[in-house]
Amino acid sequence: MRSLARRRFIATSLGSAAAAAPFVQVRGQPVTFTADPFSLGIASGAPREDSVVLWTRLAPRPLDGGGLPDQAIPVEWQIAEDESFSKVIANGSEQAVAALGHSVHAEVQGLKPGRPYWYRFRAGGALSPIGRTQTAPAAGSTPARVRFAFPSCQMYEQGYFASYRDMARRDLDLVIHLGDYIYEKSWGSNHVRKHEVGIPTTLAEFRDRYALYKLDADLQAAHAAFPWLAIWDDHEVADDYADDRSYTTRDPAQFLKVRAAAYQAYWEHMPLPARARPKGPSATIYESYRYGQLLDVLLLDDRQYRSQPACVGGGRPTTVPDCPERTEEARTMLGAAQEAWLDAAIRTSKARWTVVAQQTLMAELDRGEAGARRFWMDGWDGYPAARRRLLDSIATHKPRNAVVIGGDRHAYFAADLARDPARPTAPPIATEFVGTSITAQGPNATALAAALKANSHVKYARSDIHGYPTVELTPARCTVGFEAIGDEKQKQSPVRRLATFVVEDGVAGVKPG
Ligand SMILES: [Fe+2]
Repeated sequence: MRSLARRRFIATSLGSAAAAAPFVQVRGQPVTFTADPFSLGIASGAPREDSVVLWTRLAPRPLDGGGLPDQAIPVEWQIAEDESFSKVIANGSEQAVAALGHSVHAEVQGLKPGRPYWYRFRAGGALSPIGRTQTAPAAGSTPARVRFAFPSCQMYEQGYFASYRDMARRDLDLVIHLGDYIYEKSWGSNHVRKHEVGIPTTLAEFRDRYALYKLDADLQAAHAAFPWLAIWDDHEVADDYADDRSYTTRDPAQFLKVRAAAYQAYWEHMPLPARARPKGPSATIYESYRYGQLLDVLLLDDRQYRSQPACVGGGRPTTVPDCPERTEEARTMLGAAQEAWLDAAIRTSKARWTVVAQQTLMAELDRGEAGARRFWMDGWDGYPAARRRLLDSIATHKPRNAVVIGGDRHAYFAADLARDPARPTAPPIATEFVGTSITAQGPNATALAAALKANSHVKYARSDIHGYPTVELTPARCTVGFEAIGDEKQKQSPVRRLATFVVEDGVAGVKPG
């Protein structure tokens, strides 16, 4: 078990190791904090073979806008090859500015591939907790294994983040968060804690919502233990939004202001690189990451560019009978630019495993009865032409093993992906795993069981449990564990393995593990 997330240092009582490796001295207006400025923890992300992003945000009064004056505050960082910081290999400083919520995104270069590092920050005499991070393996190497988790849907009110407590103790190389990192609205039943305030629409309100979530010690521990990759889904902005449209804010111009505030707050609170920083209501978060010859991760954004929901007349994209609009060729989930980027990324992926990390279930899931087809319009079933183009890209370029991972559904799914969903029993060309929610309440279990029966390419579906999936990749196989938390209403709850699946190298399709 790692204890580093809980370790805190006060500048006046620095140990000898730290004293031997001083921070850089930076110029700037001296600042003293009346409370811990590192209340939101620390994080790392965007791991490359020679670089990583180190994140923190100064917030001595986290739920009240951060509590800092409108001035730049110098923040020093250190990165070391050991946990006691006797081998500091780089340090530097950043200006934490009010316009970016006093967040810090230090992009540390010149690191060695495939090894752990430890990092911390200092500002105004206060020291942050210590985080552990890890670079990606060298491009030409084939690591024996890569392990990661892919959590999603952490509804603060509906449970505690004991899944993250469990995750932080594991031996993982990476966490890939697939969205719904916050929830903008209060919903569901049996709340264990409350947002306390209404739906955020301004930058200040979104900052406070992130701060509320990030005050959670278990979430902080999971950030401090591993580098993260992250993409958003809808609830970082507004329920079921599509591009510039939301059923909650009908005027697109008004909604784009909400989206700009939400994207800005997301960037400020995640260990994202500068290239993902929003410009107004737009931000590029789709990107690829390489783990040697073993793994390529392709991160997608299926919210920002998607066509309006089909078959619902401008309303909320619920489950409705099929209609001609749904299958229109022009409908897009990723937008033309991202679609072209993805096609090129799939074409050039030479890794043993190509993991397409996106927001929701890709496999078709017909919810119809008595021959009448019904589909949920917010997922890929609302965008079948876009899905076909994506699967055509896989079928054409033939990456060695394509694995699609998703979240959003608050349910576990394992499915075979055939090139043509209309012929779902054809040999699969890819394999899909969808993770259940960290806490968010899932769909009706009886209806899901009926859908499972009616969709034979879907091999597993379960919505009555919470937790997160783990993946272990080796050159020979991909092993996926569906981890389940006993009771998300408890602050501490044991996690057990609910199901294990494998994908053998060269053989697409779900197999029991
Ligand atoms: Fe969700």
